[in-house]
Amino acid sequence: MAKVTLRNITMIFKDTPAVKDVNLEVSNGEFLVLLGPSGCGKTTTLRMIAGLEKPTSGEIYIGDELVNDLPPKDRDVAMVFQNYALYPHMTVHENLAFPLKMRKFSKEEIELRVKRAADILEISNLLKRRPKQLSGGQRQRVALGRSLVREPKVFLMDEPLSNLDAKLRVQTRIEIKALQRKIGTTTIYVTHDQSEAMTLADRVAVMKDGMVQQVAPPTVVYSHPANKFVAGFMGSPSINLFDGVLMEKGSGLILDTYGQFMIPLDPAVSESLKKQGDYVGKSVAYGIRAEDIGVNLAQSDGAVNFTVYGSELMGAEQFIYAMSGKVNIVARAPMTFSSTLQQEIWMDLSSPNAHIFDSESGKCVV
Ligand SMILES: Nc1ncnc2c1ncn2[C@@H]1O[C@H](COP(=O)(O)OP(=O)(O)OP(=O)(O)O)[C@@H](O)[C@H]1O
Ligand SMILES: [Mg+2]
Repeated sequence: MAKVTLRNITMIFKDTPAVKDVNLEVSNGEFLVLLGPSGCGKTTTLRMIAGLEKPTSGEIYIGDELVNDLPPKDRDVAMVFQNYALYPHMTVHENLAFPLKMRKFSKEEIELRVKRAADILEISNLLKRRPKQLSGGQRQRVALGRSLVREPKVFLMDEPLSNLDAKLRVQTRIEIKALQRKIGTTTIYVTHDQSEAMTLADRVAVMKDGMVQQVAPPTVVYSHPANKFVAGFMGSPSINLFDGVLMEKGSGLILDTYGQFMIPLDPAVSESLKKQGDYVGKSVAYGIRAEDIGVNLAQSDGAVNFTVYGSELMGAEQFIYAMSGKVNIVARAPMTFSSTLQQEIWMDLSSPNAHIFDSESGKCVV
């Protein structure tokens, strides 16, 4: 086990900047998820930690050791790739033993480690089989086992579940989490799937365009996003964002969404905005999650009129999709809420959990 530190890491391929001035400290035993859209630099960051790519500038430490000039094999890290390749002609046992044989471990040590990894991953009964006799999930576990047997200081995983079907992916990610808890190895895990990040991570580092936007526990990233990008990326369905101008009304504030409708701000939101200076007349984006919206069939004070164009039943709850003028919205309602297509409904958009983003910088101000 070891902590991993990235200091001012930049990677430029010819003239493509892939990673820009990334600073990251992953604690000993932590499960950190690197999350971001395609092309934001996740894999490049991981490959630099593994030693497969040399940063253009900056420093990488594993434990207290500067590893910039250490070749991959001397870094004591194990990387699990998206396209895990098991040797088809070898049994599971041989596949697991292979990395240890290459490193010239003794027979006894190999047996011990293979047994230990197989026990942890619950694949002891599969050791004699060949990869083609395994299910996708079992193959994935063997692939994990191959890095586990090395008992490295750090695990690096690059979208290791993307080859699995949806159900197996959910199941395997629960297993990976439990496994990491059990063995406590520092893990850096790359994904573009925010729900995977939410379930796996102790902390999430959200990346965009080669830059880290926010590093925090999943609940913090979800409830207190640093900026509009992070707010939009975390959560399914995505947060509703309305552009508009802030205006004073009575003792509070309202948002004029450029003539579409007015949103009275919750007093708590108004107060914290006012504390931060003069926001009246400023262009902002108002962010509110589906679960923070009050959905009603009857009109209420300050509520906005929308027309239903769809709904999605999720079990105990449903998501209602509706429009007002050109503005789309998605709101959560209980399963029992009954609405029909084209029906007029009323949405209460004043919530203490709403966010205000500065239109210019995108930064979250409330
Ligand atoms: N060897 C390379 N040569 C040139 N450009 C590269 C190379 N590897 C990556 N890039 C570029 O660097 C940027 C970051 O790529 P990277 O693979 O790190 O993204 P990613 O976040 O892992 O994306 P994905 O989710 O699609 O896997 C992209 O613009 C990519 O085209
Ligand atoms: Mg990638």
